[in-house]
Amino acid sequence: MKKILLTLVVAFATLATMAQRADYRIIPLPKSEVTDTTQVFVLQSGMGIAYDASNEEVARNAAFLREWVQQVTGVQLVLSPTDEKAAVRLSLGFPADKKAKKGKKSKETPVLTEQQQEAYTIAVGKDGILIQARQPIGFFRAAQTLRKSLPVGAKTTIEFPFTQIQDEPRFAYRGVHFDCSRHFFKVDFIKKYLDLLALHGCNQFHWHLTDNDGWRFEVKALPDLAKKGGWRDQSPLRRAGLWDGTPYGGHYTQEECREVIQYAAERYINIIPEIDMPAHIYSALQVYPNLRCDVQHQRGSDQVLCAGNPETLTFLKTIFGELCDVFPSKFIHIGGDECPKGGWQRCPKCQAKIKELGLKDDGKHSLENQLQTWMNREIGKLLSERGRDMIGWDEILEGGLTEGGVVMSWRGVNGGIEAAKQHHRVIMTPTDFCYFDYYQLKDHDRQPPAIGYYLPVSKVYSFEPLDGIPEEEQQYILGAQANLWTEYVGYPQHVYYMLLPRLDALSEVQWCRPDQKDYEDFKARLPHLNRLYDRIGVNYCRDME
Ligand code: ACM
Ligand code: ZN
Repeated sequence: MKKILLTLVVAFATLATMAQRADYRIIPLPKSEVTDTTQVFVLQSGMGIAYDASNEEVARNAAFLREWVQQVTGVQLVLSPTDEKAAVRLSLGFPADKKAKKGKKSKETPVLTEQQQEAYTIAVGKDGILIQARQPIGFFRAAQTLRKSLPVGAKTTIEFPFTQIQDEPRFAYRGVHFDCSRHFFKVDFIKKYLDLLALHGCNQFHWHLTDNDGWRFEVKALPDLAKKGGWRDQSPLRRAGLWDGTPYGGHYTQEECREVIQYAAERYINIIPEIDMPAHIYSALQVYPNLRCDVQHQRGSDQVLCAGNPETLTFLKTIFGELCDVFPSKFIHIGGDECPKGGWQRCPKCQAKIKELGLKDDGKHSLENQLQTWMNREIGKLLSERGRDMIGWDEILEGGLTEGGVVMSWRGVNGGIEAAKQHHRVIMTPTDFCYFDYYQLKDHDRQPPAIGYYLPVSKVYSFEPLDGIPEEEQQYILGAQANLWTEYVGYPQHVYYMLLPRLDALSEVQWCRPDQKDYEDFKARLPHLNRLYDRIGVNYCRDME
């Protein structure tokens, strides 16, 4: 009996010590990590973080690191910029880059890829933790890596095994989308959503701001758009086929958008705003019914902007002009998906426009699809005058793609493959792997109602964005993105449930080389991240298929 007790005590003591250890096998997995678990550096409250305080961006990242160490473990580090002996040191520049430059005759600095600019190293040794980065963004990535490595829960000391970590992402574009039209989410929650993206190394937030069910972007020249178009009289109780009889709505002022943009930028996330046109725009057509085709319609969602009405372009140019004033993003999303063409076929103004433009049946693209491309090009001109590039859902290929347009391939990967072959840039977000509004378990009764279908986390993990892309065209695939549509998702904890653990899986698709990926190993690393979610109050689906 005594022997058993002793064994138990030793086992618990070992567990307790282990629990205080950092573990660098995080999600997404760093590019390379060589760890010696026989030696540790011990970090405790009162120890310092040193950094170049004259660089505001570096200082901000040092503060993030301090905040996260405290958040995860309770250990309180001190910002001590000039302390050369600090336990944690942030040092800008890679010594290897400087050596390489010295060795070269040319004085020109080599051009770095976006991914190389994000690179960082972490070295843990007897003197502490040294973080090196080419740019301040690397410190942010390193701080997130350390945050996820930390043992979760109150600690007095943390043991860091000696290690050498080198990391940079695989794809330049690592996006997540969020539909804030079907349901409206306040700015405070958008910031939390961004925090979650940043935790996963994502750098693009695709903000779906308008759709049939609500207009969320304030346009100062058209104040009724958001004030009236942001509201609906009631919402569908979808499975019951009933309506709830309660007015629902809201919108983001331009000032709020700027606040969110700033918040995102400090976390190295670019925000791509989407104004969906010429369909998915019933919320605006309710306010401006003169802009729809003057034909009989059955349903609001079949109503689209009239391409033959000259006021339509003026309207769109006003909106996209203000959108460019507010959002600095190089990419602006024009939607373009699921435009029913029946109205345009029957509308005398649209048909007259087709004639006026001299559009001809070329056997490949219908006249109405070409009409949509004409509209895209008109908006594309405005965007390029403002130094921006247009993104559209893959339907924008159907009328002949607009020059410089980026294709977001959602109806499978074929649109993306075709666009890459035509040397257009592509973002891969096929429904089969990237639609997080789908059920994640086969048994629907164990989950809140969802739009349908089935996308388990294992399937997300298996996604390879370059599959089917000839090698010489792979350079056109910017990266991958998940989409979260919110017809059925109205509350923050439900949003988290739909995202996690699928976003955990996607982050390895976006960040890691294919040869690093191993689903069983990913599953073994997940409980640690879940402990962090528990600590910061983020929900996740507990079952995995
Ligand atoms: C889409 O899911 N309609 C882009
Ligand atoms: Zn029309």
